[in-house]
Amino acid sequence: MKRVLVLYSPYTPGGRKPDIVVLQVARALARLGHIPVPFPVPLEIDALVAGIRKAGPDVIFNLCEEFRGDGKQEARVAAVLELLGIPFTGNGSLGLSLALDKALSKKLYEFHNIAYPEAAVFTSEKPDLVVGHLNFPLFVKPMRSDASLSIGDVSFVKNWDELRTRVRELLRKTRDAVLAEEYVPGREIYAAVLFDRVLPLLEVDFTGLPARKLHIMGRAAKFHRNSAAYRGTRVTAAKKISAGLRRKIEHTAREACRACQVRSYARVDIRVNEFDEPFVIEVNPNPYLEIRSEFARAARMHGLKYVPLVGRLLEEALKRSRTERVF
Ligand SMILES: Nc1ncnc2c1ncn2[C@@H]1O[C@H](COP(=O)(O)OP(=O)(O)O)[C@@H](O)[C@H]1O
Ligand SMILES: [Mg+2]
Repeated sequence: MKRVLVLYSPYTPGGRKPDIVVLQVARALARLGHIPVPFPVPLEIDALVAGIRKAGPDVIFNLCEEFRGDGKQEARVAAVLELLGIPFTGNGSLGLSLALDKALSKKLYEFHNIAYPEAAVFTSEKPDLVVGHLNFPLFVKPMRSDASLSIGDVSFVKNWDELRTRVRELLRKTRDAVLAEEYVPGREIYAAVLFDRVLPLLEVDFTGLPARKLHIMGRAAKFHRNSAAYRGTRVTAAKKISAGLRRKIEHTAREACRACQVRSYARVDIRVNEFDEPFVIEVNPNPYLEIRSEFARAARMHGLKYVPLVGRLLEEALKRSRTERVF
């Protein structure tokens, strides 16, 4: 029986209520015989450190995705846990940082021979200088995105004018660099990776979309329940995948995780073009763990139900703390 601090970010789209996943994980931990202690990440770092020390957990179940509402700080909260020396579930600060930066992770994919869409980064409005080698159409998005903010049909640009306009808009709207990436048409696959094993694949079914809508999982498709994009897309078990393609996707997902130094659990977003070539779009370390989330679904398809899944993540954190070397 362990005392498990369930660390979570208090910001949710609807207010400051904890996300439902916090309750689900806490219940699962209780069913496993542990003592869950839910703990929202405070706004001040001193309070975070003091609060964790006071709770005195054996281990932390890390569901934190942001600090002061900023998803780009997720890795820094993990870094605090590392400095505190308390075992915690999921990814370390390095993996969370590498995967967050979609430009840096492409450099790592290159080294690991994994296919990814070519891209250019803009920190200012000078596209002409850097995108000479890219082929339109491009897909324009924040470099360190947060819950698909600013991703939608407007992200798709067919020429220089549209590119300039969209880059300018994003630079103004977000406090982030902007990535213009070659658009990969085709299927979208989610590969959930649990301790180096790729779980059964999921696929986005876009067939419910109106004829001219772009086949993407943007902000609306993920969160705007009344939108055509939300109603027209659903995530299903991936069917009609040849053994060869499945192997390629699994290899890509595993290597992408390795490239980004991701451990424990992650979800890799992949697009597959018309020649059955998989491209990594992004690696999501510590993906959403809600019971109906893609990750939990993939685990179930593998025969791992929610409570044992939570248990396995906890066990791995404890085991890692006993055996991990710090280089
Ligand atoms: N290069 C691309 N080609 C085609 N679709 C893309 C590309 N980049 C992103 N998308 C679409 O946009 C969605 C969100 O992009 P992603 O980079 O995964 O951002 P987020 O971190 O917000 O999930 C993807 O799931 C995919 O549908
Ligand atoms: Mg994504």
